[in-house]
Amino acid sequence: MLTKSQAKLFFLAGTIIFSVLFLGLSYDTHVNHVANQPYEKTITPAVIAGKHLWEDNNCMGCHTIFGEGAYYAPELTKVIDRRGEGYVKGLLMSPTPWGEHTSGRKMVAYGFSDEDAQNLVEYFKWAGTVDLNGFPAKPKYKIEANK
Ligand code: HEC
Repeated sequence: MLTKSQAKLFFLAGTIIFSVLFLGLSYDTHVNHVANQPYEKTITPAVIAGKHLWEDNNCMGCHTIFGEGAYYAPELTKVIDRRGEGYVKGLLMSPTPWGEHTSGRKMVAYGFSDEDAQNLVEYFKWAGTVDLNGFPAKPKYKIEANK
């Protein structure tokens, strides 16, 4: 059993050691890691404009990006890799609701201008460069059981 003064010392020493550790690691994160991430430097005005369009049009009401948002429509972090720039721009400018299937869910027909669609594409291109440790996982197109 610890005496009262030993318990006090244990508490104080523990608090001090872990506070110092916490501050040290926070400093290291900000100075050595966050500052060296290239993603901040590649945010162009077009990427910012695209992000504003993303927010103002509530794309997250249906989609996710970086895994955040709603699960009604596809994840869009790597959409440029998956679909290509022209395809994405085309569906954003489409005057009719775009969808791969004749019935079912469709993408909203925003009918964006060339400039707005390009800004959204720039935002997706930028999002696609961020290293997310393998997220989103590549889908398996072959069914394992049929090998
Ligand atoms: C009301 C729901 C809804 C909203 C809001 C919405 N979308 Fe979509 N979107 C969809 C659906 C559903 C699809 C998939 C259609 C399909 O696959 O047939 C889609 C598809 C897409 C695709 C192609 C994805 C792929 O993997 O093929 C892109 C890019 C896209 N949307 C961008 C946007 C952007 C940018 C916004 C905001 C400006 C937005 N969407 C807002 C429903 C929505």
